[in-house]
Amino acid sequence: MEITKIAIIGAGNMGHQIALCAAMSGFQVKCTDTNPDILAKAIAFADNYLKERVIKGKLSEEAASQALENLAFVPTIEEAVVEADLVIEAIIEKLEVKRKLFANLDKICPAHTILATNSSYIVSSKIADATNRPEKVCNMHFFNPALVMKLVEVVQGLHVSEETVDSVMNAAKKMNKTPVLLHKEIYGFLVNRLLQATRQEALKLLDMGVASFEDIDTAAMNGLGYPMGPFQLLDLTGVDLAYHVGMEKYKESGDPADRPSPTVVEKFTKGEWGKKVGKGFYDYEQ
Ligand code: 3HC
Repeated sequence: MEITKIAIIGAGNMGHQIALCAAMSGFQVKCTDTNPDILAKAIAFADNYLKERVIKGKLSEEAASQALENLAFVPTIEEAVVEADLVIEAIIEKLEVKRKLFANLDKICPAHTILATNSSYIVSSKIADATNRPEKVCNMHFFNPALVMKLVEVVQGLHVSEETVDSVMNAAKKMNKTPVLLHKEIYGFLVNRLLQATRQEALKLLDMGVASFEDIDTAAMNGLGYPMGPFQLLDLTGVDLAYHVGMEKYKESGDPADRPSPTVVEKFTKGEWGKKVGKGFYDYEQ
């Protein structure tokens, strides 16, 4: 199936950029969020981003207005999915919330619609059985910032059909992304397993008082050539996301080693969730 219409559920950190990326690649996109403030922020971002791309000489005026034409931010989920070939869910990392959403999507989407989750860790088999179309439910995982990062992980659990995987891989390519296909479901997929190893060690070094978070970032950038240090990246992807992901894993495994680190818990409790709120490890207000 050729995908031409995409619905994005959740206009937060990831959703609004995935929506814009798809609209700039010629898809008809409808994006929604239950929080009107987040939706308003996403609309302003899209407008501003496209204007800036034109000023920077990275995009023609025609391409920018075409992208805006392709993209609608709508207040209800029903409006978003009514004609969608593909739905990409980008909401909070809580399994029960996602299962509820997918059960509803199954009821209100056309029969042919593929339902993908952008979850960072939750494999789609944990969600697919909330629907009557498990063969059309898969992981399609983008990276932050989604407008820049090329990779998309597509995961084919046992329940996912070849047709679904082909359609999603092709849609990712049409978005100018570089998709990789995982033939098995595994917690954290490829990238987050690699990232987690670095992040855990960085948090451990900080919690042990070995070095400041700034110096750990400097070490990763200047000693390993990483574009960003682990704490800058935590601020970008969201301390809240790291907290929820850790808690979900801990709930499932019961292993205290899976709990978010004391530093992440402290930052989460203080509301210092990173760039999106103006403060995380670093201060973005200035
Ligand atoms: N949104 C959109 N575009 C952005 C952006 C943002 N937040 N930040 C930077 N950009 C764009 C700029 O507009 C610029 O575009 P241009 O070159 O076409 O004009 C380009 O990115 C480079 O920007 P800068 O020169 O300002 O900054 P850098 O060269 O430092 O790049 C970066 C910024 C791309 C964010 C780079 O630091 C980087 O690659 N960092 C690592 C990001 C990463 O590892 N992401 C994966 C996170 S893990 C994840 O997402 C998984 C999830 O499950 C948690």
